[in-house]
Amino acid sequence: CNKQEEGNNKTYQKDLDLIISALPKEKGWISENNHLYQGFWYPTAPLRGIITAQQHLKARPTDVFLVTIPKSGTTWFKALLFSIMNRTHYDYHTHPLLTTNPHECVPFLEVMYANENPNSNPNLPLLSTHIPYSALPKSILTSGCRVVYVFREPKDTFISLWHFTSKLRRKELPPMPLGEALELFCKGASPYGPFWDHVLGYWKASLERPDRVLFLKYEDMKSEPYAHAKRLAEFSGHPFSLEEEKEGVIGKILELCSFESLRSLEVNKTGSQCSSTMVFVPNSILFRQGKVGDWKNYLTAEMIEQIDQITKEKFKDLV
Ligand code: A3P
Repeated sequence: CNKQEEGNNKTYQKDLDLIISALPKEKGWISENNHLYQGFWYPTAPLRGIITAQQHLKARPTDVFLVTIPKSGTTWFKALLFSIMNRTHYDYHTHPLLTTNPHECVPFLEVMYANENPNSNPNLPLLSTHIPYSALPKSILTSGCRVVYVFREPKDTFISLWHFTSKLRRKELPPMPLGEALELFCKGASPYGPFWDHVLGYWKASLERPDRVLFLKYEDMKSEPYAHAKRLAEFSGHPFSLEEEKEGVIGKILELCSFESLRSLEVNKTGSQCSSTMVFVPNSILFRQGKVGDWKNYLTAEMIEQIDQITKEKFKDLV
C-alpha cells in the first residue's frame, strides 16, 4: 500500500513539474526561476506546495491563517500570534519560542504541502502562508476561518527582500545588483508579487469581510504594539481578560516577541530551518534590523521616485 502511495506521489510530482515548466518564467531571486501562475510570480519549490494546497486543503472554521508577502514581518507576527493563542499553555521560562524559531512553531502551508503527502490535512489551529488572496485554497474562503494579513511599507519590504535573497542566492547564479532587483520588483516579478496586487487583494477582502480578514501594518505594530496585540487577540478569538491586562500579560508577550529578545536567543543565533522558498535559512538572517525606514540608506532619489510612483497609483484608495 505504501509503495503504491509512493508511486502515485511520484507521478503526481512529475505532473506538477510539467505544469510548472509550461508557465511563463522570469529570473528568480534565490534559485533560477520565478513562474507566473494565476497572475502572481512564484519560486519553483513553493509553487508545487501551493498548487497542491489549492486542491487538497480543508480549512476549519476555527483556523487562523497569518498571511504576508515575504519580508513584511512574518517571523514577528508568527511569534505574536503563537504566543497570544497559546498563552494559557506555557509560562515565560519554558516557552517554546525560547528554544524554537517562530517558523517552526507556525509552519508555512506551502512548505507543508510541498513536503508531505497531499492528502494529509494539517491539523494546526494557526498556520501561515504567502499565497495571494485570489489564489487561496477555496476552503479558506468558504470555511469561515480567520485571516490576519500584515502589510509593510513597499520600500522597506523591497530592501529587506534584497538583503535576504542576496544572502541565500544560489552560488552558481551571478549576484543580483540592487538596480536589477528593483526593476523586477517594480514590474511585479518578485517572490509572490506583484507586491501591490498582493496587498490590494487582502485590503479589499478586509473591507468586504471585516469579521474574517484583519489588515494590519508592520509600522502600526511598531508604533502602538499594545493596542495592536489586543486587536490580534480579539480577532483570533483569544481576547485578553481584564485580569490578564492588569497582570501585564500583554507586555510579557510583546517582550518575548520583540526583535531584541528573539534575535539574542541561542536558537536564532545558531539554528536554521527550511524557509517558504524551500532553502535552508540560518535563523540569524531573519533578524536583520527590524527598523522602519532603512530604505533611506540604500535607494537613490530615482529609485525612490520609481517605487513611490507605483505606490501612489496602485494604493490611491488605501489609507
Ligand atoms: P529588515 O530586513 O528590514 O530588518 P519576514 O519575517 O517576513 O521575513 O520579515 C523580515 C523582516 O522583519 C526583517 O526586516 C526583520 O529584521 C524583521 N523582523 C524580524 N523579527 C522582528 C521582530 N521581532 N520585530 C520587528 N521586526 C522583526
